[in-house]
Amino acid sequence: MTANDGGELHRGLNGVYFDRSRTCFIDGRQGKLQYRGYSIDDLATLSTFEETAYLLLYGELPTRPQLAELESELISARAVPGSIMDVIRLVGGAHPMDVLRTAVSALSAVDPEAGDHSPEATRRKGTRLTAQVPSIITAHHAIRNDRDLVEPSKDLGHAANFLYTLTGETPTDEAASLMDKDLILHAEHGSNASAFTARVVTGTRADVHSAITAAIAALSGPLHGGAAENVMKMARAIEEPARAADYVKEVRARGEPIMGFGHRVYRTEDPRARHLREGVRRLSQEKGEPKWYGILDAVVEAMRPLGRRGINVNVDFYSGATYYLHGIPLDLFVPIFAVGRIPGWIAQVMEQQEANILIRPRLQYVGPLDSAYVPIDER
Ligand code: COA
Repeated sequence: MTANDGGELHRGLNGVYFDRSRTCFIDGRQGKLQYRGYSIDDLATLSTFEETAYLLLYGELPTRPQLAELESELISARAVPGSIMDVIRLVGGAHPMDVLRTAVSALSAVDPEAGDHSPEATRRKGTRLTAQVPSIITAHHAIRNDRDLVEPSKDLGHAANFLYTLTGETPTDEAASLMDKDLILHAEHGSNASAFTARVVTGTRADVHSAITAAIAALSGPLHGGAAENVMKMARAIEEPARAADYVKEVRARGEPIMGFGHRVYRTEDPRARHLREGVRRLSQEKGEPKWYGILDAVVEAMRPLGRRGINVNVDFYSGATYYLHGIPLDLFVPIFAVGRIPGWIAQVMEQQEANILIRPRLQYVGPLDSAYVPIDER
């Protein structure tokens, strides 16, 4: 017996295509990203999050009436059910990502179409989840700060309503628009760890709430969604732009990665990063804290030599700074990533359901073989 049957080993499934998809195109060499054939550059500058969510959920850009219908569905699904509020209170002392994962899992128990796995029901559940995820995050944030809950707005768009329910203040158009852009840029990204997790779970014919709960779990790790939080921790540790180069040297000497750099797919700059860079620079000036942009810029400069090895700045480098300058606490950065990513996860769950196959790769066994079993008292 051999340890394996000669199949090729691809650690981390690096470079492996495991299915076909119509959701997202990524060209890691040229730094190109498209959702359903539409450039991220056009979507980030011309569309809204709701329009992009429609594109992902339905496969095409909406007409005005179609968009209005989705917007109204999202608005009417914003309130968090009372029983889920109880769950949030129960686990309210945990990290917001743990609270979100638990609350989304609990939502399956109260979803009106829990037993219906049809594509239409999955899309409707996905629409509800898109609306409910931001409300769960802001409700938990109010509870943990002993503040009154801010009722979701019936008029504001998705991004503006999120900021409104988080802070209790209607955001400026500029602040809402930067958040809207951030959510669009996070809405979908192919077979990343969380979307892959959602597809693995869907592959077993488990339901959409199970898939999204698992996706949130995968997103919570520092190598995936957690990078934005760590970028601002890094910026705070650096303190001054002049210290950036030494900081980078020290971290690299310890063999640790610099957060907000590197990507499994991009060998050039992440095409999402530049859409936030200018916003961060402006916001940094506007808020009278140009130091933060200065520190980030100095880190980019110190990391420039690694560009030759394909290690460049990624989207999280600037998204963390966007949230920080909005006054959002660090531990809400990953949950905000989830706010943006829900439509992409749902699109992939639906795609997996459409042409389902159990996802079951193999592990190459490298341990001992045919070992003699020694009874416990003789070991
Ligand atoms: N800083 C410094 N060096 C880095 C690096 C970073 N952020 N990212 C990768 N590298 C180096 C590694 O040290 C490794 O060097 P080696 O070949 O000398 O050992 C090489 O580049 C390959 O890195 P590896 O971790 O194997 O690449 P990967 O494709 O598995 O990792 C990430 C991709 C995202 C996990 C990795 O780049 C990382 O940890 N980045 C920081 C976290 C982050 O920003 N995540 C958000 C992604 S959107």
